[in-house]
Amino acid sequence: MTLPAKKVFIRTYGCQMNVYDSSRMADDLAPLGYATTENPEDADMVILNTCHIREKAAEKVFSDLGRLRPLKAEKDLIIAVAGCVAQAEGAEIMARAPFVDIVVGPQAYHRLPQMIGEVNAKRRIIDTEFPVESKFDLLPAPRQEGPAAFLSVQEGCDKFCTFCVVPYTRGAEYSRPVAAVLKEARGLVAGGARELTLLGQNVNAYHGATDNGASGLGALIRELAKIDGLARIRYMTSHPRDMDAALIEAHRDVPQLMPFLHLPVQAGSDRILKAMNRGHTRADYLRTVETLRKHRPDLALSSDFIVGFPGETDADFQDTMALAEEVNYAQCFTFKYSARPGTPASTMGDQVPEDVASERLTRLQALIARQQRAFNAASVGCTFDVLLTGTGRNPGQLVGKSPYLQAVHVVADPSLIGRIVPVHITNLETNSLGGVIPGTEAQVAHQ
Ligand code: SAH
Ligand code: SF4
Ligand code: F3S
Repeated sequence: MTLPAKKVFIRTYGCQMNVYDSSRMADDLAPLGYATTENPEDADMVILNTCHIREKAAEKVFSDLGRLRPLKAEKDLIIAVAGCVAQAEGAEIMARAPFVDIVVGPQAYHRLPQMIGEVNAKRRIIDTEFPVESKFDLLPAPRQEGPAAFLSVQEGCDKFCTFCVVPYTRGAEYSRPVAAVLKEARGLVAGGARELTLLGQNVNAYHGATDNGASGLGALIRELAKIDGLARIRYMTSHPRDMDAALIEAHRDVPQLMPFLHLPVQAGSDRILKAMNRGHTRADYLRTVETLRKHRPDLALSSDFIVGFPGETDADFQDTMALAEEVNYAQCFTFKYSARPGTPASTMGDQVPEDVASERLTRLQALIARQQRAFNAASVGCTFDVLLTGTGRNPGQLVGKSPYLQAVHVVADPSLIGRIVPVHITNLETNSLGGVIPGTEAQVAHQ
């Protein structure tokens, strides 16, 4: 039987978990005859996979929905809102946007095929449950495209940082069993993946079941490293509190584990870390970084920072600047605090005025940009193993990823896509590095 060809347009906001979920939704819809499209005008179904982390991100959903409304008037179109805004504001979406057919939370999207059936029977669906069944057991195996893949191993969060919506939108911490992760990993590698990024809201809180007890992330990484053909392993996002000895030792012992770690600290002041309920001090974080660097001297770090958390004084902010100076990051994400409904911080007194927070953000960003430039500049002259992932902007050029997630452009034959090749870094471009594959310099000069 051939199914009618249909198209689904999926727009993804937010974190890598959402990127992973979007590709799993596409996997889930493929057996129904849906192919993905980049153009909403061509689509029979549109899914907005949303993010609730900051106010701006959440507001985007309603403006995007407004733009979709005329499309829906023209043709038969199913509109679904998925992700964290769906989870947090499902009822409001249904009320404010009567043309939305489906609201589905991050733990329920394996039920999309049934929901489409219901929509065809002219019903609107809202499903923001945390079902007892795990979507991971019910989704079809992921289809792998390209040499790099995400693999979700852990979801949810029990940490309840006072500013954060994730524990409410994603629910309690859950780790997939080791066997399920290994099976998915083997499938991805068989489909061509050379690099896996293990994902979780608190990925290093991973404690997946095995036949004899639970395995931490360090042990899981050692198991994954045994898979033939898997050349690179990364993981994100980790919490400083869960950087245990086994994981730190994996950085020393497992060559496939890339020397780049995203370890968000949020703030450098103990007073603010406590008010954020981060569960560690500035000194704890710096000690963890030191131990990591002792085990893996070429490790580069990145972080997330929030400025303007309620009660943050100039002195607190100085502590953040000083911590960033001390760690010396390869890159960072910096955010202005955004008060989120339902979180404890949103009702704390002493909210920081907007202009003060903006000024702090500018100063922190300038520091981080300086560190990032210095890190990239220091790469010039080095030879990195680069995973070639696709074609570059200019003819004859390929683009790839360094061990430090820097984009690298190199003149090379497209047959090398998917391979890891040594690249001598020769120059710094605006958002990337340029290099040559040793031995091919003469060819390049003739291009
Ligand atoms: N689990 C990760 C972070 C997930 S959210 C961790 O614990 O580090 C991604 C980032 O968004 C956070 O690290 C934080 O820097 C930022 N963020 C979360 N809530 C925020 C808020 N209310 N305002 C501004 N930034 C926020
Ligand atoms: Fe949010 Fe904190 Fe959980 Fe990270 S650890 S997802 S910042 S509550
Ligand atoms: Fe956003 Fe949800 Fe990820 S709120 S950052 S999409 S977990």
